This record gives sequence, structure tokens and C-alpha cells, in this order.
Amino acid sequence: MTNQRTSVPTTDLAGQVALVTGATSGLGRRFAEVLAAHGAKVVATGRRVERLDSLATEIDAAGGSCSPVQLDVTDSDQITNAVEHAESTFGPVTILVNCAGMPDAQHATKMSLDLIDNVFDTNLRAPYLLSCEVARRLIAHKLPGRIVNISSINAFTYVGGRGGALYSITKAGLNRLTESLAVEWARFDINVNGIAPGMFVSEMTDGMIERIGDVSRSFPRGRIGQPSQLDSTLLYLVSPESEFVTGTVIKVDDGQTPR
Ligand SMILES: NC(=O)c1ccc[n+]([C@@H]2O[C@H](COP(=O)([O-])OP(=O)(O)OC[C@H]3O[C@@H](n4cnc5c(N)ncnc54)[C@H](OP(=O)(O)O)[C@@H]3O)[C@@H](O)[C@H]2O)c1
Repeated sequence: MTNQRTSVPTTDLAGQVALVTGATSGLGRRFAEVLAAHGAKVVATGRRVERLDSLATEIDAAGGSCSPVQLDVTDSDQITNAVEHAESTFGPVTILVNCAGMPDAQHATKMSLDLIDNVFDTNLRAPYLLSCEVARRLIAHKLPGRIVNISSINAFTYVGGRGGALYSITKAGLNRLTESLAVEWARFDINVNGIAPGMFVSEMTDGMIERIGDVSRSFPRGRIGQPSQLDSTLLYLVSPESEFVTGTVIKVDDGQTPR
């Protein structure tokens, strides 16, 4: 580790191995494509295997490398196996993008215990377990790494109170996870950061718009984001340019929410 960089800025990710959760749709799929396009070998994960296969085919056809692995992030054995698969296929995971997530979409008093457990397990327990599994191996290999947690602007604000309190709670927990693990692993050159998106086009957002209507009209710019508008933030957080940045969650929300 050095205090000053003298190299030319680059987003060349050749030699990096990236594991992306939630790569079957929305933001995670885009993140997998972007990392592969910049040279990382990508392990794309999610529960819907046929979608993973088509993503891998697409990435391979574009000249990248992608290995699809079915992973339900609520299953700790599957987490260990996925990281093991990544390491035996491409080498140690040096970039982890914790993107898999789920909404609760219900009022707090109306949620079943199963749904409560699922939201906690998917949005908070899984990123913790995955981060530890990846970091443990990086530390053993004496390799630097980057972890990017996909939080939400709802970690900072819960507007309207029309369902989504637990989502907000788990994303706030993910921010604290980001901050705490960044401190614990700074000495190992493992940077842990987050992105807190506002509203972007995805299946999750489609469901929300169906439920509560098109809220974008109330945003200052009257629009929601395209996943590609997160490319630069992701690339920044996994590139040498951000080597001094750790324990930070970057809000990318087009000014949709109050500060
Ligand atoms: N779109 C937005 O406006 C927005 C805003 C703020 C934050 N986010 C965050 O961005 C992330 C991606 O969301 P998205 O908007 O792209 O929604 P999406 O299109 O619904 O994608 C959700 C992804 O999570 C995966 N997933 C859910 N539960 C899983 C589980 N148990 N195991 C493995 N994978 C699981 C899904 O894969 P499978 O179903 O195939 O398993 C899917 O790939 C989430 O963490 C979300 O909270 C999104």
C-alpha cells in the first residue's frame, strides 16, 4: 500500500474476479455486464438459472468471461459454495457486488414472520456472510479487494409510511455494515463501500409503481434512473482511483429525495 498514486487513471479490471449477486435482473445484471466489459472475470449469481445462462452467453459473445452460478443468498451453504466455485473457476474473488435484495412492500404490523426473516436474510445477513467469506479468503491470500454493497436511498429516508419500513431498516443496517467492515478490513487493503440508488428502472420498481402509482412525477426532475446511470459510480468504487475511499455510501438519486 502506498500513500500516493502515480499511475494513469484506469478502469481496466483485467485480472480481477468479480462475484455479483442479483445478476438475473435489474441493476445486478447491468453491474455484471459492466464489470465484464471492463475486463473482470464475472461470476453471475441468482436463483433463476435460465437468466444466468443467457447473461453468461451474452457476456461471452461480447468477448468477456462469465460463469453462472445458482445462488439463493439466504442459504449460507450455497454462499460458501458459490465463492468456492468462483475461486476454483477464475481465482480468488477480488470484487464482490452485493446487489441481491427484496422489498417488503407491507406495513410493519402486517408482515408474516417468514417475510420478516426473508427480508433480513436477503438484504442484511447475506451481504454480511458473503463479505466475510470473500474477505477471509482475500486475507489468507494477502490480496486486496473491493466490496460494493447496493443499499438504497431508503436507508436514509422513509417517505410516506405506506409500506417499506423493514426495507429501510435493513438498508440502513447495510450502510452500517459497510462502515464497520471497512474499518475492520482497512489494514488488509479491502475497501468496503456502498451505493444508495434512488429510483431506477427494474422489476422491483415495476412492482412498486403497480402498487403505489408513478411517484416519479413528484421528483424534481420528474424521472427515474436507467441502470446504466450507475455504471460510473460502480467503476469508480472498484478502480484504483478510489483506493483511499472506504466505508462510504454514495447516494445516486437525481435529487429525488429530500436531504
Ligand atoms: N431499482 C431501484 O430503484 C433500486 C433503488 C434502490 C436500491 N435498489 C437495490 O438494488 C438491488 C437490485 O434491485 P433491482 O431494483 O435491480 O431489483 P430486481 O430487478 O427485482 O432484482 C433483484 C435481484 O435480487 C435477486 N434476489 C432476490 N432475492 C434473492 C435471493 N434470496 N437469493 C438470490 N438472489 C436474490 C433476484 O434474483 P433471483 O430472483 O433470480 O434470485 C434479482 O436478481 C436491490 O438490493 C435493491 O434493494 C434498487
